[in-house]
Amino acid sequence: MSLIKKIKDYYKKNKTYLFTTPSHSQGNFIIPVLKEIIGKNYFKNDFSEIEGFDNLREPEGVIKKLLNDISKIYDTKATFMLTNGSTSGIVAAMLAVLKTDDKVIIARNCHISVYNGLVLSGARPVWFLPEFDNNWGIYKGITGADIKKQIAQNPDAKALIITSPTYEGTFSEIEDIAKLCKKKNITLIVDEAHGALLNFAHFKVRPAIQCGADISIQSLHKTAGAPNPCAVLHISKSSKISAESIQQALNLINTTSPSYPMMCAIEGTVKYLNSQKGKKHITKLFKIIDDFKKTLPDSVEIYSNNNDITKILLKIKGVNSLAVAELLNNKFNIEEEFSTDEALLFITGIGTDSKKLKALQKALKKISKMRIDKREDQSTLSYSLPQMIYTPAEAYKKNKITIDANNAEGKISAEAIVKYPPGIPVLLPGEVIDLNSMFSIEKSQITICE
Ligand SMILES: Cc1ncc(COP(=O)(O)O)c(C=O)c1O
Repeated sequence: MSLIKKIKDYYKKNKTYLFTTPSHSQGNFIIPVLKEIIGKNYFKNDFSEIEGFDNLREPEGVIKKLLNDISKIYDTKATFMLTNGSTSGIVAAMLAVLKTDDKVIIARNCHISVYNGLVLSGARPVWFLPEFDNNWGIYKGITGADIKKQIAQNPDAKALIITSPTYEGTFSEIEDIAKLCKKKNITLIVDEAHGALLNFAHFKVRPAIQCGADISIQSLHKTAGAPNPCAVLHISKSSKISAESIQQALNLINTTSPSYPMMCAIEGTVKYLNSQKGKKHITKLFKIIDDFKKTLPDSVEIYSNNNDITKILLKIKGVNSLAVAELLNNKFNIEEEFSTDEALLFITGIGTDSKKLKALQKALKKISKMRIDKREDQSTLSYSLPQMIYTPAEAYKKNKITIDANNAEGKISAEAIVKYPPGIPVLLPGEVIDLNSMFSIEKSQITICE
């Protein structure tokens, strides 16, 4: 039986007096302002693990059945519901696969959760930088050739972690990469947080799990219509990674009070995407994005190099994109996901309709005709990897002091400095501070390892 149906049925039967958590008693009393913000139904369906409602840590009943149903939909060895986002899935995957001092190859354009996983697992990262596209200010997809080189230099690595599609929508060559990893017994973990629609429509590439990755993690809230921060973690059928090891790792970091409304949201989202209606919805989304692109003025250039159609990365030729973003925000009430000197990113998904895209199209048309200062200097992210003295886990445990940033040259950082956008850690704890490579990050003080 589905979890959603089980909860609905519960209210059809005689209601039991529950002397259990949570204390709002299925919405018997809701703090008035919360009723406005969250809504009555959320409270009504916010159960704990009462009789018959199973347990996410050791599922045996309705949750186990739901997990099996979801796993069948994705055709995986096992799929886990994550009620704490892809962040928790990435950390759990790393804890399941990596032990202290295990070597893990990681593309540096990873999400900060990978750093969290490094601190908790104690693994030793070997970073590499994917190729950078200066014209667009984004990292390109990772190729099989890139990984071949990394594996040749680190044949003893236990795992490889890459992000595909990236935040900006570029895909990596997962199939080729997976083959290389399999040959060397390296576990391939793909952060597919932005790729939750891949399983339900015809994209340029197939989902990582179908291309030979061991584990992939997808946020259902980013593109697939679920509320924050619903996500799923998949283990592929061909992987040697056991479902038990992932469950154990999740139990280490997760709350013991998982949200039933969120689990229902995961069930509802996955089943909707997998239905005829859901698939048609995605096809329609693709069509309105295509139509949007066709009707843009010639001066608008769209990034279309091996990327995810739901991510619209564009620029107005010759114009600084930050200036375009400012106009969109201030004059047209349109907020982009992010902008750099080079480009603007608009994220679309299940909730995007043609009205929203038309508003953007109209605004871009108007902006194209405006006189805006031409591009002056292009700040591109040319970047070299800092030297690592301590692993993130070692650095985390060091005594720390905060010093004047001007005196920090050559010291070992105890903090992460992340350049937004594109959200890449310029410096991580345990790495040597090189003030020249810290770009325009303005910091008067910096915390270092003693
Ligand atoms: C590439 C990537 N991976 C992982 C995450 C974390 O996802 P979540 O918000 O579901 O925890 C994000 C969030 O922005 C992301 O962009």
